[in-house]
This record gives sequence, C-alpha cells and structure tokens, in this order.
Amino acid sequence: MSVPLFNKLMPGLFLILSSLVLPIAWADAEINPAYQTHCASCHGADRLGGTGPALLPGNLDRLKRPDAIKTITEGRLATQMPAFGTKLTAQEITSLAELIYAPLAKTPTWGMDEIRTSRVEYAKTGSLPDKPAFKADPLNLFVVVELGDHHATILDGDKFEPITRFATRYALHGGPKFSPDGRYVYFASRDGWIAKYDIWNLKLVAEIRAGINTRNLAVSSDGRFAMVANYFPHTLVALDTRDLTPIRVIDVKDDGGKSSRVSAVYDAAPRKSFIAALKDIPEVWELSYDDKAMPDKTAFAPRRLKLDDYLDDFFFDPAYDHVIGSSRGGQGQVVNLNVGRKIADVALPGLPHLGSGISWRYQDQTVMATPNLKEGVVSVIDMTSWKTIKQIPTLGPGFFMRSHERTPYAWVDVFNSSKNRDVIQIIDKKTLELVKELKPSPGKVAAHTEFTRDGKYAVVSVWENDGELVIYDAKTLEVVKRIKMNKPSGKYNVYNKITRSEGTSH
Ligand code: HEC
Repeated sequence: MSVPLFNKLMPGLFLILSSLVLPIAWADAEINPAYQTHCASCHGADRLGGTGPALLPGNLDRLKRPDAIKTITEGRLATQMPAFGTKLTAQEITSLAELIYAPLAKTPTWGMDEIRTSRVEYAKTGSLPDKPAFKADPLNLFVVVELGDHHATILDGDKFEPITRFATRYALHGGPKFSPDGRYVYFASRDGWIAKYDIWNLKLVAEIRAGINTRNLAVSSDGRFAMVANYFPHTLVALDTRDLTPIRVIDVKDDGGKSSRVSAVYDAAPRKSFIAALKDIPEVWELSYDDKAMPDKTAFAPRRLKLDDYLDDFFFDPAYDHVIGSSRGGQGQVVNLNVGRKIADVALPGLPHLGSGISWRYQDQTVMATPNLKEGVVSVIDMTSWKTIKQIPTLGPGFFMRSHERTPYAWVDVFNSSKNRDVIQIIDKKTLELVKELKPSPGKVAAHTEFTRDGKYAVVSVWENDGELVIYDAKTLEVVKRIKMNKPSGKYNVYNKITRSEGTSH
C-alpha cells in the first residue's frame, strides 16, 4: 500500500477500529482528545478537578445531562467556565457530556500520600493575633454560604452588616463546623477540599483535599480533631485541626470486606466520639476521641454497631444516648448507643430529613420534629415513647426546620416541593399548630432559617442567584432588613452552633 493511500485510509480505519474496540475506553479522558485539548487544563487530565470542579459521575449527581450540555455549550456567566458552542460541534459536546458521566477506566487512589501532598498552608499555626480584628460580637456572627458564586460572607448578627466576603471551594457540602471557642470555621466541599478559616483574622489558614467526593465533616467537641465523611473513596479521614495535617485514613468495610460510602459524620460531644452513618452496609460506627478510650491518641478504631437495616440519615437525642435514623425504605429505628443496638422502631413514612430535625420541651416531654422530603408534613415524635404524637400538614415537602430555645415558633420551608417554594411556615411549639405563612420574596424560593444568638431575629434565605437574606423579628414576624446575596443557602450562627442549640442541626 502506498503511503499516501494509507494516510487517506488511516483516519477511517482508526474510527472503525475505535468504535469496535474502544467504546468503553473512550470514556477515559486520557484518550479523549477533545477533553485533553479543551477541558483538562481546568478540570484535570484525570477529571479529578483543578481550577474547575471534578467531572465524575458521583460528583455530578445534582447536574442533569441536558444541563451539562448547556453548561459546556454556553459556559457559566461570571465564572471561569468558558462557552464551547462555537469551538466544538454539537456532536463533540454530546460526547464530552457522555464522557463526564462515565466512570473512570482506572479507579483513582486517594490515600494518605495523596491527601498529605494536597495540603496547603496559608498561615502558620500561632502566627495570627489571638483577638478579633473587628468590633462586632464574635459569638453573634453568621457564616453565610453563598452557593451562586462559591463565596461565604461573615455577617455581624447585631447590625446585620457583612464584615467580609471570601471565595470558597466549589460546591460546599454539609454545614461548616466551628472550633469550640468559635474562632475557626471549617468547610468541606463536594470535591473533598477541607478548609480552615480564622474568623477573628478573616483569613484562610489551610486547605487539604481529604477525598474526591465528600459529604461533610465534623469537629470534635474538644476542638482537636476533624473527621471527614467520604463517598469516594470509601473512607473516613481524621485530621489534626491545628494545621489540617492528616492523622489517619480509615477504610470503611464490613466483616466480609464489602466497603461502604459514608453518608455523614457527626460529633457526639457528651460521648467524646464521632458517629458515622454508612450508606451501603447496615452499621453505625462510633469513633472515640476520648484519651481514655484511645491511649495512643490517634487510633480512631471504630466501634461497629451492627443493625438489621441501613441508617443513612440521623438525629440524636440531646444526651447523645440515642440515634434516630431513617433508611431509604422509610422505616425508622432508634438505636441506643450505649447498649449498641436497636431499641425501638419509629414510624417515619414520609422520608424524614432527620439531619434537619430539632427538639424542644412540649408539655412534660421532649419531642423531636422533622420535615419530610416526600410528604407535606412535619412529624412530631415523643422522644421517650418514640411514638409520633402529631403529623402537622404543610404546604408541601420541606427541607430545613429551625427554632431557638428563646422563641415560641419553629420555622419550616417548603423547599422540596414543586410549588409553594416561596413560603415559610410557622409552627407554634406549644400548640403544634400552624400559625402563619410568610412569603419573604413572592415567587422566589425561600429556605433555611437561622436565629441570632438571643433568638430575637430569624434570618431566612431567598435561594436564588439574585437572592437575599430576609431578617425577621422572631416575635412579631415583621421584616426588619434585607441583604442582597448570591444564592445564599445555609447560615450558621457561631453561638448557636458552639452551644449546640436544640433549635438547629449539629
Ligand atoms: C478555564 C477553565 C475551564 C475550562 C477550560 C473548562 N472549564 Fe468547565 N468549569 C470551570 C469552572 C471554574 C466551573 C465551575 C463554574 C461554576 O462556578 O459554576 C466549571 C464547570 C463545569 C461544569 C459544571 C459542573 C457542575 O458540577 O456543575 C461542566 C459540566 C464543565 N465545566 C465541563 C467542561 C468541559 C466538558 C470542558 C471542556 C470542553 C470544560 N468544562 C472546560 C472551568 C473550566
């Protein structure tokens, strides 16, 4: 065969061959030339992320495929994500969209070495002044997460004025967590980046990538450790909070070696332990940080509670003796953490959002209340008998429920509904009746309430790119102020978080 002819045939031959033998290998970014040319510089040659977020199926579960195509074609306004509609054909864009939803050909490793190497230190431990650089009450600050352009705002909770605003990693996941004195706040991003921020000095201190797909983190009540819950790899990662150096990577597996994603990890202060919810094996893990239980101080050997059913969303009683969990099947169980087994079933039919549950004294009992993700109802459960004492019908499925020790009302949104998403409903904690509906910004999604330290004001998010925080007098339910923000999601009051207010999640 003459060389010119070969050259002419070659591309066609290559296409035929590749479509025969490479349909799976095509999913590998390494040999997708368009990906390498146009995307790798920002999203990483291996799709694990860089300036841009990781482009892996597990990380994209909130982005629908048509939205991915739209993002690639049109880019994202006011971000570094460029538009490729004029550079690439529709066909090329579709195949790139296919690529990013395909699993990697080679499973990436993200173990102790990779984690340690990823750490960046911006300020040496002890190098920053030990007092706030501003006048506002350091315990009545809010950390406001703005998802629209990946920023956080530190808000003065007395004057309701922003003190500073700074960039965060892409897509923060789970609430930020505070050190016991409220000086530091720790963030986790969907792509596994953990950041330590010094609120008093308004400075980022350190960052480390603890996983590739991360759910949340918890900080120990003594402030010494952070524990990170990962979906990928299947690990829990313990960090030293002083400078975020990794202490231990804990593989999450059952007796047979089956590994599991970690749905979430929480600090159980009275027990001096972390409690982890597992997605794929029916166990709950307790990891003690009590020096007495952990003589070498860094073991974090899990105490594994074996259950009959999966528990992947949690609520704790105030003493942390019990964990109330729901499985995706809808059956709830109460596990006594001291005896290490299930002690009661609890009816939780509407897929409760236990991570957002709250508790209060009602008559002579402590009750917990949780919105439901699938039914328009708030379930109120007696925490002694574990019976549902009331189902309060709401305008639709909600997501966040909040209150405060010093306020008579519990606030719930209609976030998980297809309509009425602009409404916040107010429940009287004494009568368990709905007393009022608020529309912070008619037609715009309203969600997530948080109270000031004294419980006098409630702050609600208008969850849109041209959104705002709407501040209410928590007694009269009148609006006192509005502050523009870019898709504000959660707001976290330093005092309510570090004192573990019964009206907010932990
Ligand atoms: C100059 C850097 C850069 C380049 C080049 C780039 N991206 Fe992006 N991309 C980003 C950034 C930054 C974001 C996050 C945008 C935001 O904040 O919403 C992003 C977001 C995305 C998202 C949305 C992810 C999500 O979780 O919502 C997709 C999908 C995406 N990029 C695909 C691509 C593809 C495919 C290419 C190549 C054709 C590419 N990008 C090239 C920087 C880049």
